This record gives sequence, C-alpha cells and structure tokens, in this order.
Amino acid sequence: MNPQESNLERLLLKSVSNFFSHSEVIRYYPDRAREVGLWPHERAMFQRFLEPPPTVLDVGCGARCEAVELARWGFSVVGIDIAEPLLENARALALELGLSIPFEVTDGAKLDFAGRSFDYVTLTGQMIHHVPLRKNRIQLLREPGRVVRSGGAILLTYHDWGLKQDHQPWRSRQPASRGGEELLEIAEPGDRLVDECEGAVTESGGFVHNLTKAEMELEVADAGLLIRERARISTVAGGEPNDYWKPTRILVLEAGTATASETE
Ligand SMILES: C[S@@+](CC[C@H](N)C(=O)[O-])C[C@H]1O[C@@H](n2cnc3c(N)ncnc32)[C@H](O)[C@@H]1O
Repeated sequence: MNPQESNLERLLLKSVSNFFSHSEVIRYYPDRAREVGLWPHERAMFQRFLEPPPTVLDVGCGARCEAVELARWGFSVVGIDIAEPLLENARALALELGLSIPFEVTDGAKLDFAGRSFDYVTLTGQMIHHVPLRKNRIQLLREPGRVVRSGGAILLTYHDWGLKQDHQPWRSRQPASRGGEELLEIAEPGDRLVDECEGAVTESGGFVHNLTKAEMELEVADAGLLIRERARISTVAGGEPNDYWKPTRILVLEAGTATASETE
C-alpha cells in the first residue's frame, strides 16, 4: 500500500468512528432503543434465523437494542463497536434492564476472540455499509467466519442499492470541509457521504458505501463464507417495513473452506 492510500484509509476509518461518536447520533440511538426497540420486521428476522440459548457476537452493535433484545430472549450476547460513546449508552441501557452484556470497543475486522467461540455472529442494522474500502469489508466478513462455530451462522443485513433507488430517494450532502471533499474525490465507486442515520436526518455527514446484491455476494465469497439462505426483510413476517428497511436483504452465512486468496 502506498503512503497516499494508507492516509486515505485512515481518513475514511476515522470518519466512521467520528460520525458514530457525534453528539446527534449518540442522542438518536438510545432514544430509539427506548422508544421503538426492535422494529417488528427486525424482531421477526431474529426469531426466524436465531434460536436461543446459544452465544451471539453482535458486531457494530451501536447503542440500539439488538444485543439487549437478544439478551432478554435468553441469548448470551457480547456486543462490539468502534464508537465508545455509543457503547457507554448501550451499557447504561443494559444496566437499567438488569442485563449482563459485555460491550467492548473492538474493530470487527480485528476480533480478539478465539476461533469457533460463538454460535451466531450478527452484522445487522446494515452496519457493513459503514466499512470503508472493499478489502476492509472482506476482512470484517472473514473474522466472523473464524469465530463462528461449525453449524452456527452469521446473520448479515444490507441495503441492495438496486432496490434502494426504487424505494428511497437518496439524500447526500456536499461536504463543507476539505476532509469531506477528499473523501468524495478518492473513495471507491459507490462511496457517499450522507446526512442520515437510520432514516433520521443529521447535521453531520456519515460515510456509506452503496452495495448491489452482486457486489455484496462477491465480497461474501471473497471472505470465504458460504450463503446458506437469502431473504428479503419485506418477506419475513412482522409487518410492512418502513421505507428505510424496504431495500434490506438478509444473508444467512456459514464459514466455508479456505478463501480464494489463501489458496493462491
Ligand atoms: C448503522 S449503525 C447500526 C448500529 C446497530 N447495529 C443498530 O442497528 O442500531 C452501524 C454501527 O457499526 C459500527 N461500526 C462501523 N464500523 C465498524 C467496525 N469496523 N467494527 C465495529 N463496529 C463498526 C458503527 O460505529 C455503528 O455503531
């Protein structure tokens, strides 16, 4: 990697943790967790694809409530995220509800867990879009493949850009700062800065990489994962998803054998 690329990578990665540590986003997530909890379609998705009591690693857990809700259902959950302020709120919510959930600041691409230590790994809430650069998304997918037990599953949700264009006019903001301009100039095709967080408009711009179904499935394959099941959030039971969730696709994944890059 040349020095320019490594600067770009640092800038992109920092922009994600900055966005998710921004006061507006920090305010938004715990309010959502208390007021909404899981959306009905989201609850239906977890009920359909995960079965308690096994262990779950929730990657990119934020401060909302997938981890909290799963712990309430009897799963033994560990939540990880790169945004410490969100985790502080997640810890406060768990404490309030009398739940014991370790929330750790960890990059999903560099997991500090032994191999085969979880029955399920969840990468939900479309967190994959906030991982800059294809190679980092592949590494972030490869790690769950390492820590998930054989017979277990990885649950991944993402917005299919092909479907998203039909459902939701995409809002993007022009960056005000030089740093922001650099992001738009040098990022991979499909990268955007957006002024929304799960449908809520924010003043700060956040990094998003748009993925098509073909791109997502190629990244999954390059991470050495196998697709066990595909579903659309709009077809799992639990009511009609809102516009934000309509283009969401679900992949149930399992660890495959050696990846292409490992066998070369
Ligand atoms: C759209 S939010 C979803 C949060 C939560 N899963 C939910 O649905 O409410 C994406 C989350 O992924 C986290 N994230 C982004 N990159 C990450 C990484 N490399 N490792 C761990 N977490 C990451 C962000 O900090 C943020 O909390």
